[in-house]
Amino acid sequence: MSKRIVIGNWKMNPRTIQEAERLFSGVAKGISRIKKTEVAICPPFLYIEGLKKLSRKISLGAQDAFFGEVGAFTGEVSGEMLYNLGVRHVILGHSERRALGEGNGDINKKIKSALSAGLRPILCVGESERDTGHGYFNLVKSQLEECLMGVSKDSIVKVIIAYEPVWAISSTPGRKDATPEDSLEMAIFIHKILSDKFGSDSSKARIIYGGSVSGKDAGEFLRHGGVEGLLVGRASLDTKKFMEIIKIAENSE
Ligand code: 13P
Repeated sequence: MSKRIVIGNWKMNPRTIQEAERLFSGVAKGISRIKKTEVAICPPFLYIEGLKKLSRKISLGAQDAFFGEVGAFTGEVSGEMLYNLGVRHVILGHSERRALGEGNGDINKKIKSALSAGLRPILCVGESERDTGHGYFNLVKSQLEECLMGVSKDSIVKVIIAYEPVWAISSTPGRKDATPEDSLEMAIFIHKILSDKFGSDSSKARIIYGGSVSGKDAGEFLRHGGVEGLLVGRASLDTKKFMEIIKIAENSE
């Protein structure tokens, strides 16, 4: 089994590089004795270079990467540029980007481009709501099939799939708590889709859970949610709360 992974998605936070450095250094200090858990932080693009100098132990991730390699794409940043800066992970297909108009086709191009740049994509999938007819399984199936179209069997093991039910994310109005059982049934389903498409080696692709994870439920999701890691939003903006989650991941069986 590969190492557990805890990933902080800072989204469009914090307001200044000074705050970003303080937060990042706090985590860097806190993880000095963490051995079994991989820790990654995905800050806004423009903080990456400054933060890289502060820790070699925290893996840096980006929150998006464009599919063009180089050229006339105003406002975009390529996977290769990020890789050359020291970035090793990239979140793709986050629900907050899908809400801005990004579709499975765009995400598919970004995944393939990120893989050729040497990055590990963290592909976010998840439904906005749960219908009684279980149509949400079909939605997640299409997200997986369309976003991973043309990805090779060799590359699938480098992809991390983040199951993020949008209805459980902290910024969703009227959000509800997801349970480890919700995560477990979806993790089993995702493994099945991957194995139908890519064969048995795809069981090495890690599935992680995201959606209002805190110190209260991190252990339950890791023990009973069928996942090998967590994608943390709001709690990753507080050194104490993020460290609590990392320590739970390190110490729970
Ligand atoms: P929260 O942990 O704030 O719900 O965010 C989850 C998320 O969107 C991480 O990518």
